[in-house]
Amino acid sequence: MQSSASAKRLRPQNNAARGPAGIIDTEMRILPFVAAVGALAALAGCRQLPPSKPASQWTAQEARGSAVFQRDCARCHYPTSTSSLHGPGLQALTKQPSMPSGMPPTDERLTYVILHGRTMMPATPLSDSDLQDLLAYLHTL
Ligand code: HEC
Repeated sequence: MQSSASAKRLRPQNNAARGPAGIIDTEMRILPFVAAVGALAALAGCRQLPPSKPASQWTAQEARGSAVFQRDCARCHYPTSTSSLHGPGLQALTKQPSMPSGMPPTDERLTYVILHGRTMMPATPLSDSDLQDLLAYLHTL
């Protein structure tokens, strides 16, 4: 008799029912937050720059432009990174709405910057064919 009475006292049914319900309620409130964090992570992923065209797929003109870049630009710019060297990294230069200066990356604007320089960037006099090859290469970045 005594043992059955103490067993009853060890079963506080009403409180036990409230406990798990409280936990589920909290989970329901956290869920939208978890979803929002996931959506933000996905957005951040979308902002990654497109990769540069691999050298194995360059046209002959793009390959010549790469040689011009190595000769006249590479000492100050990383072509396939956004990290700065002496000037800004040029990855995805022509695939973005604007260059670091805020100007659009049009061929006209690139030609002007290359031939005339800009603040700390010196002017680079190029033959017209070297310039066309270099512009073609810049579009692969
Ligand atoms: C002596 C170093 C140096 C050399 C060589 C050089 N640059 Fe630059 N470049 C810079 C610097 C510094 C800047 C940042 C200028 C600024 O906006 O203040 C820059 C900026 C740029 C920009 C961004 C322009 C803008 O409007 O934001 C482009 C594009 C660029 N350079 C391309 C080239 C190319 C192509 C060559 C080769 C023909 C080249 N650079 C050679 C130093 C250099």
